[in-house]
Amino acid sequence: MKQELAQDLSLPRVLAVPRYLQEVYWWAYVHPNAIRVFERQWLVNAILWGNFSRLRDAALHALTPVQGRLLQIACVYGDLTTRLADGMSKDASLDVVDIVPAQISNLQRKLDGRSGVALFQRDSASLGFADNSYAGTLLFFLLHEQPEAVRRQTLAEALRVTAPGGRIVIADYHCPSRWHPLYYLFRPVLALLEPYALDLWRRDISNWLPEGVKVRVESHRTFFGGLYQLLVLVRE
Ligand SMILES: C[S@@+](CC[C@H](N)C(=O)[O-])C[C@H]1O[C@@H](n2cnc3c(N)ncnc32)[C@H](O)[C@@H]1O
Repeated sequence: MKQELAQDLSLPRVLAVPRYLQEVYWWAYVHPNAIRVFERQWLVNAILWGNFSRLRDAALHALTPVQGRLLQIACVYGDLTTRLADGMSKDASLDVVDIVPAQISNLQRKLDGRSGVALFQRDSASLGFADNSYAGTLLFFLLHEQPEAVRRQTLAEALRVTAPGGRIVIADYHCPSRWHPLYYLFRPVLALLEPYALDLWRRDISNWLPEGVKVRVESHRTFFGGLYQLLVLVRE
């Protein structure tokens, strides 16, 4: 069965791509050649210093058992979403949003007709879904790409649409230990190519959570000498 390409008629037909994506990440997501260059499993793995599979599996495991209605906020190169869709129980469904239409088309191609998956062009900072719609929400390496104000809004939206008792699973950068060679080598690369990413080296994700929403940290793990983290929150 073909997956649904959903469109909320109350929203403009095509939402504008935010300025930070056009200015900072045009080469990775927006340029017509971006998908041709980056949609390679070995390359996403290399960008994460060989840790893609480990982080992907840890994030998927944190959502297990994959049942109910799930939300993935933003597409990802590689096989994260296809694995997530393949691991869903029969009564589960997955919605995936992204702001760049070409990323949605690319994911639609990768899903290759899998059922139970709906794709939406939405801004993570203003999802447009009802409160408490989802049993689980996944944010895989999105927050470090966003300016602080957008990151706060994205987290607020992720919590708003996740039902009480549901998990919000976040995989992203984290400050490595000072003995880690990449502490010195990778910092200038991130500063140049991903200017908002070092925010996640400086502060905990909890700093950007909205006030007044009850949330519990179920687990927090770091990977690869602390360069990556997996944070699992539960909406209370
Ligand atoms: C989730 S991150 C994943 C990065 C990761 N390095 C990868 O391998 O794909 C990248 C995606 O986030 C999307 N994105 C960035 N800002 C967004 C926003 N405000 N709303 C929705 N999607 C957004 C981009 O269009 C892109 O497809």
